[in-house]
Amino acid sequence: MTGPRVSVTTVLALAISVSLLFPHIQTLASGQRRQRSVQTPRTFGFGRPAVSDDITRLDIDVMPDGTGLPLGGGTASDGARTWKQSCAGCHGSEGQGGTAAPLVGRDPAARPPTVGNYWPYATTLYDYINRAMPRTSPGTLTPNQIYGLVAWILAKNKVISEDARMTAETLPAVLMPARNRFVPDDRQGGAEVR
Ligand code: HEC
Repeated sequence: MTGPRVSVTTVLALAISVSLLFPHIQTLASGQRRQRSVQTPRTFGFGRPAVSDDITRLDIDVMPDGTGLPLGGGTASDGARTWKQSCAGCHGSEGQGGTAAPLVGRDPAARPPTVGNYWPYATTLYDYINRAMPRTSPGTLTPNQIYGLVAWILAKNKVISEDARMTAETLPAVLMPARNRFVPDDRQGGAEVR
């Protein structure tokens, strides 16, 4: 079978008419060539090296052993005031839940999970509230207010007593009811997977 035969003259004629009809094709191609030859500058002239203050502002994580907790402290009665003002509207006056998740409850079978039946580390409360709550204005609470809220939530869950003061020393020592619902992940990927 023979395909359509295209003569050299036809190809040439086509090429000429394409460049006449679409002159911008050539312009684009030469524009791209120009761009490629531009050297990328070593710096772009904005920003500055991070100083330690910048890093401190962002370095807010709190570890299970309490690393990262700031100075300060608070009890459940300190926290009750802040709770009413900044948290109750979404989580309920007693932490039972509202438009947002319940934070109080010890029954391991209850859903959704709560601080009392699911959270393995008490220090996560400080980390989470400090970085994420109140939902509409995170980052606005002082360390004392946060310690107070942590104490209030733990006392409501009957994990600590009403008058226990939460600080960088006492909070990491709180043993959460759900601590043993989690196991260290030492799986190898074989028969030992739990
Ligand atoms: C405007 C509503 C709103 C307010 C006010 C608010 N929260 Fe929340 N909160 C939420 C929502 C929504 C979530 C669920 C976040 C998600 O998973 O997306 C949440 C999650 C949480 C959790 C984690 C719950 C879990 O088990 O995962 C904690 C703890 C918490 N909030 C504490 C607080 C505290 C303390 C305050 C007051 C300082 C507060 N919240 C104020 C809406 C709110």
